[in-house]
Amino acid sequence: MTREPVPEDVRAAIERAGARLGAFSGRLLWFRSVPSTNDLALRLAAAGAEEGTVVAADAQTMGRGRLGRRWSSPPDAGIYASAVFRPHAGAASLMTIAAGAAISEGIEAAAGLRTLLKWPNDVYAGSRKLAGILAEAGTTGSSIEYTVLGFGINLMPAAYPPDVATRATSIEAELGRTVDRGLVLAECLAALAARYADLRDGRTGAIITSWRRRAAATFGRRIEWQAPGGLREGIVEDIDDRGALVVRSAGERCSIISGEVRWTP
Ligand code: BTN
Repeated sequence: MTREPVPEDVRAAIERAGARLGAFSGRLLWFRSVPSTNDLALRLAAAGAEEGTVVAADAQTMGRGRLGRRWSSPPDAGIYASAVFRPHAGAASLMTIAAGAAISEGIEAAAGLRTLLKWPNDVYAGSRKLAGILAEAGTTGSSIEYTVLGFGINLMPAAYPPDVATRATSIEAELGRTVDRGLVLAECLAALAARYADLRDGRTGAIITSWRRRAAATFGRRIEWQAPGGLREGIVEDIDDRGALVVRSAGERCSIISGEVRWTP
């Protein structure tokens, strides 16, 4: 696991993005292959790495997804990156929603591809997943010291395991043309910087509005989720101003604040 120079295509795109990268300019650490960029970023954050530090790799050997799943990370087929944040107490709760909106915005800005957000921050094209985000926090007592946001974006079709292959897509598969990975990474970091500034400065309405616009096609869909009392079913209505999913279930409205929901036919 040796640090390498930032590849030229990425360096050029990062340089072009300039001031839009905010804290993310000039703190990109690149690796050919790591077990998990989130693990490395968490270690660096615990050792004091500054906000805006980004760890990225051409491949991961132990990429991690939400809820203990694996994230398939074949070499040169995707973006695997993790960014360190040091959010103030009020900002932490909307980080996952802000990150979902930002990655969807970054993909659209770089490649012109409109994606769909599935609560809380899975990025889809139609019914196939194109990108995922893993947010992990380091805490002292009850206060959050740092948050690492890791994002995996499928850039091109790859040799995914069969169970992933049937559920995944990539930017290039959707568009039928090649895309500039440096531009995708730079635009995602620029969008993360902008949405994080919104969070810091209290413009949470702008974040919710962007997320809602990108998830609107999921409103009205039937879902199921694991509630403390067992499996429940409902219809997605919206998200509220805390980023919780608002669902109509058994004649009443309820909010889901964490976990995962599944679309059902
Ligand atoms: C999910 O949808 O389950 C979240 C996937 C997150 C994958 C990214 S790839 C970069 C970073 N490093 C990891 O080990 N995971 C995240």
